[in-house]
Amino acid sequence: MPSEKQNIQPLLLTYPGNESFSAALHQHLNFESVEYILRSFPDAETYLRILSDVAETKVAVLCSLVHPNEKFLPLYFLCKALKEQGAKEVGLIAPYLAYLRQDKIFQSGETITSRHFATLLSETLDWLITVDPHLHRYSSLAEIYKIPTMVLHADNSIAEWIKNNITNPILIGPDSESEQWVSEVAKKVGTPHLILQKVRKGDREVELSLPSLQNFQNHTPIILDDIISSGETMKKTVQLIIKNGMSAPICVGVHAVLEPNAEQGLLEAGAKQVITCNTIPHSSNGIDLSQTILEGLKLFQESGVFSSGG
Ligand code: R5P
Repeated sequence: MPSEKQNIQPLLLTYPGNESFSAALHQHLNFESVEYILRSFPDAETYLRILSDVAETKVAVLCSLVHPNEKFLPLYFLCKALKEQGAKEVGLIAPYLAYLRQDKIFQSGETITSRHFATLLSETLDWLITVDPHLHRYSSLAEIYKIPTMVLHADNSIAEWIKNNITNPILIGPDSESEQWVSEVAKKVGTPHLILQKVRKGDREVELSLPSLQNFQNHTPIILDDIISSGETMKKTVQLIIKNGMSAPICVGVHAVLEPNAEQGLLEAGAKQVITCNTIPHSSNGIDLSQTILEGLKLFQESGVFSSGG
């Protein structure tokens, strides 16, 4: 007989804008949904009301945190309201976790926003599940988050997609941070990989240098990065690869932060295709991670994070 802990199935509250991922989760498992009203008053302040009975339950809020500034306050109110209505635990499934960019003070007067955001979320939530957070100078989320966190990875799903769709690939990472993802995926696909050197000159300006491609001219280049935002990093990589005589590369990103026109810019620069995981809803989504999230939830549950509360 499974223990009481293992039987506990969280309710799912889908934050607006996350419906497609929610539908994918529901396909695998029939979560009971939390119904609620969330709207803005004419002065743009938030009104919200929980309609479902959440007393004594554990609620998983599904909210990908792209554009976090506009989402955080309503999310905070939602979590408070759930607790006030008697929810025992409120956790967050954030397929994309924001505010990991500033992990160091580079110039006097700056502040480490990643720490402050982590403190705010840690004070609001009981746990957090996310996919491939942009950990650069932090070795793990535990360095800044004070709640249990689980990090899931897109590497298996990306590797599967490459195996099923591309013949003779070579994986290319645009900068040293990308090596952690690129080397894992390359290992799983059983293919070589190369890492470029990047120097960031500004928010939308990067300089890249490429190692020799001499031995890989017959391969299909796949550029892989965790985030595609302005698209400049990928764009420069695409241009460099084409300049070096290789065929049109495929751009793969875990998180489609993609600014408007960034995908178009990549295609115009010569990319054959842009494909992303569905951690952020976007027309380029082609790799579904809902099964990965479900497996993570299950592991969390088995480890007792969804405690019995007894
Ligand atoms: C940074 O190191 C990340 O891994 C990405 O390379 C970066 O966020 C991409 O940004 P953009 O698309 O604006 O060049």
